Amino acid sequence: MAREYRIAAIPADGIGREVISAGLAVLDTLQARDGGFRLLVEHFPWGSDYYRAHGRMMAEDGLQTLRRFDAIFFGAVGDPGIPDHVTLWGLRLPICQGFDQYANVRPTRVLPGITPPLRNCTSDDLDWVIVRENSEGEYAGNGGRVHRGLPEEVATETSVFTRTGVTRIMRFAFDLARRRPRRLLTVVTKSNAQRHGMVMWDEIAAEVARDYSDVTWGKELVDAMTTRMVLKPRTIDVVVATNLHADILSDLAAALAGSLGVAPTANLNPERRFPSMFEPIHGSAFDIAGRGIANPIATFWTASMMLEHLGERDAAARLMAAVERVTADAALHTPDLGGKATTAQVTEAVCDALRSANA
Ligand code: NAI
Ligand code: MG
Repeated sequence: MAREYRIAAIPADGIGREVISAGLAVLDTLQARDGGFRLLVEHFPWGSDYYRAHGRMMAEDGLQTLRRFDAIFFGAVGDPGIPDHVTLWGLRLPICQGFDQYANVRPTRVLPGITPPLRNCTSDDLDWVIVRENSEGEYAGNGGRVHRGLPEEVATETSVFTRTGVTRIMRFAFDLARRRPRRLLTVVTKSNAQRHGMVMWDEIAAEVARDYSDVTWGKELVDAMTTRMVLKPRTIDVVVATNLHADILSDLAAALAGSLGVAPTANLNPERRFPSMFEPIHGSAFDIAGRGIANPIATFWTASMMLEHLGERDAAARLMAAVERVTADAALHTPDLGGKATTAQVTEAVCDALRSANA
């Protein structure tokens, strides 16, 4: 009997649809090749077209429906005709917050064959995992607007840091650092300028660190962190940062590794009380949507993270090996990596690599 997992596929908008369909094709090939597991995929047509038809980004009972799944495989939201805060708060954030996916994990490394923009930077120099606090902080949604349109209009956007929220993300990051060979953790902060939430953030980091004497850790101010990422990438291993800081730093990380088109992410509910969600970090990319040239590698790596979360470690590793065989061949690079390959060609190449691999 094959092990079965229920997957909710939500491609949503723009290139999200192109890369999720590529990702499902690769997963199909992988499960046929493996034989040990079966993915029962259900598709959900939520996103901006659904919004235009129904006035909402997802079904009203969407979260209840998704709860029954083992994982969510998500594309991207964003439409030129609908404000970004409507699309984001209508679909992706309700899932992250409703399912308490408080740990957003973003691995970055230079894949074989990809030339990073930094001189002399190899995969040995840049091999990071950024852990983003994904449930509160600057994106807690706490604030409001009064006196709209009047000269005295006021808008507030108040960051929220809770002891529970900060402690659990610190523990998660220290645990992850402990499992990596270098056991190094950088806690990103801004406690010089933000003297309430960020000072508590630092204090809790120091408290949690006492339980992890085998992890070497240090603090870095977020502005200094950007220069360290560019100038001394080798000094970084695992990074933990707030929702906003990690959002920005992980886009920088993706660019330093070669392209946003190869960067994956997992939104985890580590206690597994709810399904976790796996997605490429890029958005719906209006500029290239519908042209068949979106890089599907981020989504394949995302799929590998999903398999790992489901406990299918061999299949996850096999998928990454196939991805790396394909990125090693510059003829199979999409335009974002300086090549001419199409989404379909890269997808087919990864499927071929999976079919022909012996391991
Ligand atoms: P974006 O990530 O969609 O695109 C940024 C740039 O990277 C574009 O030039 C795009 O062509 C390129 N790019 C991104 N992914 C690529 C891929 N797989 N292959 C090749 N090139 C790729 O970010 P942008 O343009 O700021 O936002 C577009 C829309 O996406 C907005 O509505 C935004 O709100 C939304 N968005 C949604 C996210 C999500 O659903 N998680 C994350 C980021 C943005
Ligand atoms: Mg972002």
